Amino acid sequence: MNTVDDKTVVREYFNSTGFDRWRRIYGDGEVSKVQLDIRTGHQQTVDNVLAWLQDDGNIEQLTICDAGCGVGSLSIPLAQSGAKVFASDISEQMVGEAKERAQAVLGEANSPIFTVQDLEALSGKYHTVICLDVLIHYPQDKAAQMIAHLASLAESRLILSFAPKTLGLSLLKKIGSFFPGSSKATRAYLHREADVINILESQGFKIQRSGMTSTRFYFSRLLEATRN
Ligand SMILES: C[S@@+](CC[C@H](N)C(=O)[O-])C[C@H]1O[C@@H](n2cnc3c(N)ncnc32)[C@H](O)[C@@H]1O
Repeated sequence: MNTVDDKTVVREYFNSTGFDRWRRIYGDGEVSKVQLDIRTGHQQTVDNVLAWLQDDGNIEQLTICDAGCGVGSLSIPLAQSGAKVFASDISEQMVGEAKERAQAVLGEANSPIFTVQDLEALSGKYHTVICLDVLIHYPQDKAAQMIAHLASLAESRLILSFAPKTLGLSLLKKIGSFFPGSSKATRAYLHREADVINILESQGFKIQRSGMTSTRFYFSRLLEATRN
């Protein structure tokens, strides 16, 4: 499968079966044990990012681009904390759900600005660019192009998460325990941390903070990189 196909498949998936599955996982209703495990892991990743930004104490001064925002799991609390958030996603359905959730939580008060857009088509400059759990849908060469594009939008900082290519995870992927269930409709790609760091460094960034969430079915490495 080539990378153009990857993007088309991902868009179609998150506008159909993937939308139903992930809206539930990223919600608070009843889900299967596996989905609950993924929900818990993902929430930890979101909480890590929120804790970093809140610790810095300047969240109200930040413009933030949340690329691949999904249903707004990060964008909404960031906006609630006072950041100016520009949230976008390739899936119209995910953006529609994010808008509804934002309306329910925030009303008109400092709502994120939502758009349906491929992250590679985003333009503008933002203090901080964040892209959580999106790169898993793309192979290394495509992920590298995406990281470089996101870096070009970031005035000061880029925060990324990805499924790390470790021996253990590669094995889990091989035996099919990684990303189980219907999400197999899309391919899950692991990325070597050293490769991601190399791309960030080649774009003039250095790693400041890192985190890792591992549950039974959810694995996400989190990196914060700032401009040199
Ligand atoms: C696993 S979800 C993560 C959502 C969100 N970042 C979060 O952590 O809650 C992946 C999201 O990436 C979006 N996505 C995939 N490829 C994208 C692209 N090229 N540009 C923008 N969004 C994309 C999908 O539509 C989906 O909403």
